[in-house]
Amino acid sequence: MKILIIGSRGQLGSDLVKALETHELITPEHYDLNVANKENVKNYIIENEPHAVINCSAFHDVPKCENDPITSFSVNTAGPFNIAETCKEIGAEFFHISTDYVFNGHKGFPYKESDTPDPLMVYGVSKYAGELLALKMWEKTAVIRTTGLFGKNPCRAKPGGRNFVDLMLHLGRQNGEVKVVGDQYCCPTYTPDLANQIAVMVTDKIEYGIYHAVTPPGCSWYDFAKTIFDLADLKVDVQKVNSDFFPANFKRPDDSRLSNERLAKSGMDIMRPLKEVTMEYLTNDKLNKVTVI
Ligand SMILES: NC(=O)c1ccc[n+]([C@@H]2O[C@H](COP(=O)([O-])OP(=O)(O)OC[C@H]3O[C@@H](n4cnc5c(N)ncnc54)[C@H](OP(=O)(O)O)[C@@H]3O)[C@@H](O)[C@H]2O)c1
Repeated sequence: MKILIIGSRGQLGSDLVKALETHELITPEHYDLNVANKENVKNYIIENEPHAVINCSAFHDVPKCENDPITSFSVNTAGPFNIAETCKEIGAEFFHISTDYVFNGHKGFPYKESDTPDPLMVYGVSKYAGELLALKMWEKTAVIRTTGLFGKNPCRAKPGGRNFVDLMLHLGRQNGEVKVVGDQYCCPTYTPDLANQIAVMVTDKIEYGIYHAVTPPGCSWYDFAKTIFDLADLKVDVQKVNSDFFPANFKRPDDSRLSNERLAKSGMDIMRPLKEVTMEYLTNDKLNKVTVI
């Protein structure tokens, strides 16, 4: 298959390149293909004629989105619309990555694909609008929502690119104590597994529409920090605080855990549990590195 991966230098995109390495991949840089530029998207996709397009690009520094809704909507809403429109023109399947932040977090247990979004902040509204436009524009669109990514590649949108696991290890080693929010829940998701999951969806025949793809079962950030230090065998004082301890210019959902219900029902769910993948991450990629931070 000829597959175009947009955002292939990012945290998830880099693992997708590995997961799909047996295929013919097209992996433009941001400056080759800017999703917010309709003509650029159209010309690039038509010229390369992929069978499938995966969009991992986003403007997702959430505080920046709050201050810059125009860029947020250009990249996160017009972007997937532009891609879907051109995919329709050439008949290519479209796989678009989205977020748990489309939900308000009030449900109290994991969201299913059939639950109604109600985003609380500019980022979430722009991503939800992008989902809707892509799905309405082109019937061969699959939206894949995920949450709280961590993996060996840095997140391009985050200052310093450090993920939660690395941040905890760094602070724990440096200070011997960390303060972590205990009133926010999500599903920290391991990018190599998510990339393998997306690869299965792209290469097997799936029904289009909305999917959730996360590392189960989800937890609070406080619980995740405890798990990380336990598995890394580090003695760190983990102090539970409420989210208002870290003031922000936007409201996060309190509980945005997702359920992989549709993947499970279709027999395609290959996401491994959090404890197992965190151990793999610590063992394979990080323990040696963090000792020299
Ligand atoms: N990170 C998370 O915790 C998280 C949680 C839930 C959902 N998601 C979703 O998962 C997806 C992947 O996230 P990630 O953490 O892998 O992101 P990332 O590391 O920030 O990578 C994003 C990639 O997209 C590129 N990009 C940004 N704007 C672009 C544009 N206008 N046109 C073309 N390319 C552009 C970036 O290139 P440059 O760096 O060169 O600009 C980068 O290669 C996103 O859709 C995000 O909304 C992420």
